[in-house]
Amino acid sequence: MQNAGPAVPKTDCRDNQAMINQNNPNNIQPTPEFTDGESIVYLGHLPVELSASAGRLFLDAFKDKFAPVFGDGDRAQSVLENSLDPTHCIAAVSNGVLVGLLAIQDSQGSFLNPTLKIMIQTYGMLGGLFRMFGLAVLHHSTASDEFYVEGIAVVDEMRGKGVGSQLLDLLEQLALENGIQTISLAVINTNPRAESLYKRLGFVSTRRDKLWPFNRILGFPFESATFMIKNMG
Ligand SMILES: CC(C)(COP(=O)(O)OP(=O)(O)OC[C@H]1O[C@@H](n2cnc3c(N)ncnc32)[C@H](O)[C@@H]1OP(=O)(O)O)[C@@H](O)C(=O)NCCC(=O)NCCS
Repeated sequence: MQNAGPAVPKTDCRDNQAMINQNNPNNIQPTPEFTDGESIVYLGHLPVELSASAGRLFLDAFKDKFAPVFGDGDRAQSVLENSLDPTHCIAAVSNGVLVGLLAIQDSQGSFLNPTLKIMIQTYGMLGGLFRMFGLAVLHHSTASDEFYVEGIAVVDEMRGKGVGSQLLDLLEQLALENGIQTISLAVINTNPRAESLYKRLGFVSTRRDKLWPFNRILGFPFESATFMIKNMG
């Protein structure tokens, strides 16, 4: 859709509180709202009623990564929806509808938390273990001064309107407020458009992780992931 839908005006971060309080072991914090004054509201949490939408958005946007691990049916939706930590994200909401989501992993936790128990309950013992192995292959360990972007997705009809850039910009603000030195992410080799967006926003590639033979074993339709960082200094 060209020039349709709400534009994304300048963000007015009226409530400039830190979204993720590094000193709070439970990571439970007030819910600051980054409002843009128009129809997209950026929230420092995922409202509980949007959990199902978040699961659908991520399953759809990250098919290449998630379908081999979670499948693509109701089970996948249920696992994802029930594994979310709503405090580890920035959500873009328009008229009550989730239009974008940036999932954050820091040293205290992450947005996506599928446990071994949930995986085994859902996929059986062998299926659960195999799928956990898939998740382990994609896992990144986060340093204490790092925000890792676990995933960023915008609904199809809102792409190319600045929502993704805005989500990343808000993450940077949050990083600065929390003394975070580095924002990092990994982009798979089949997603050059996302990689160019990150480059444009100042991320630089630091290494490429080849996934062979795990991509073959696990059925990932990509071969490598480029690790990118942006230093806040
Ligand atoms: C990547 C994504 C989050 C960017 O959000 P957005 O709101 O579309 O981004 P912006 O409007 O701020 O910036 C536009 C840029 O995003 C990138 N982009 C746009 N559509 C994209 C798509 N379908 N897939 C990947 N990147 C895309 C392009 O670099 C684009 O710039 P261009 O139009 O000059 O090529 C969004 O397009 C998306 O959800 N894509 C699918 C999921 C995905 O690839 N996530 C990233 C995984 S690392």
